[in-house]
Amino acid sequence: MIDGLTIVSHPLVQHKLTLLRDRNSSIQLFRTVVRETATLLCYEVTRDLPTETVRIETPIAETDAPAIAGKKLVFAPILRAGLAMAEGMLDLVPSARVAHVGLYRDPFTLEAIEYYFKTPEDVSERRVIVVDPMLATGHTAIAAIDRLKEAGVADMRFVCLLAARPGAEALRAAHPDVPIWAAGMDDRLNDHGYIVPGLGDAGDRTYGTR
Ligand code: URA
Repeated sequence: MIDGLTIVSHPLVQHKLTLLRDRNSSIQLFRTVVRETATLLCYEVTRDLPTETVRIETPIAETDAPAIAGKKLVFAPILRAGLAMAEGMLDLVPSARVAHVGLYRDPFTLEAIEYYFKTPEDVSERRVIVVDPMLATGHTAIAAIDRLKEAGVADMRFVCLLAARPGAEALRAAHPDVPIWAAGMDDRLNDHGYIVPGLGDAGDRTYGTR
């Protein structure tokens, strides 16, 4: 296992990951299941958020009850494949803000190139959950987190559907302060930087572009 990496072993998450891996799953099913899996992963990544006691009134009586406290959340999907995951996380935390990080992988060098970056103004005061379905080489995730740190963000977590061991190791080495949550992990990448067995190109399968 890799220190700082949590594989969410819940049967629902594992079943949904199998649907995502299956090449015969339709685009519609793939998109729906990406969203649902992201909702379940969001539940796990927010498990240790602090709470505070607030005084409320039920229809019957006044009582003390817990409410989420501390830094407000920002979901930071890496474009474009992270968008469907962010929607699933917003289903659970609708008040979260969204930061868009536009990065693509150069097909030859596999390096991440930035083309868009837009965050809430107070992003440095918030807890940011970076979202990208595939943690493959780790270049894109590392570049996104570098960029968010440049913008002043100090509190980050990373969530993906599937990690490759080399990518997870690279991300943990570059950013040991950023824990990772994933539905699964595969051991290797092919020569094109795709995770094996993986689930293919998450962006193309979500948006039907291939
Ligand atoms: N990006 C993808 O969409 N799939 C992979 O396997 C690797 C990177």
